Amino acid sequence: MKRGEFLVKGVLLACSGACMLSACSSSDDGGAAPNPPGNGGGSSNVSVSLSNLNNIGDQFTSSGVLFFRIGAGNSPSDFVATESVCPHQGGQLVWQENEGYIECQLHFARYEDDGDVIRGPQGASGSTRALRVYSTSISGGNITAILG
Ligand code: FES
Repeated sequence: MKRGEFLVKGVLLACSGACMLSACSSSDDGGAAPNPPGNGGGSSNVSVSLSNLNNIGDQFTSSGVLFFRIGAGNSPSDFVATESVCPHQGGQLVWQENEGYIECQLHFARYEDDGDVIRGPQGASGSTRALRVYSTSISGGNITAILG
């Protein structure tokens, strides 16, 4: 591989990796966050294997949905499914099991597991809204977020 090819491929990989890390968010300068799944955009339901969520506190993100386990059983009430991208400016949302809240990794807004806002963005202008929380069903070793 020639040096020029290496640089171009490296830039493309770095670019796509950065996009994945930021959940393909819009810019950090006030751009609107992407629509969450199930927001009238023709989204279908999202399913993941329960093997990704074996222990309380485990979390898994797929197709714009953040799944996390809050109970020891295997009924829908033992799990939460929310949008995975912060409504403020598109930061990645993470369930903080030890703290008991969902936290944005960009400006650190915090949300209850029912989606209510605990605190807004820190050190950034603008506000956020409550998260969309999806009902779930469990079948065949999978959990499905019903985006409606
Ligand atoms: S993007 Fe989440 S608080 Fe700003």
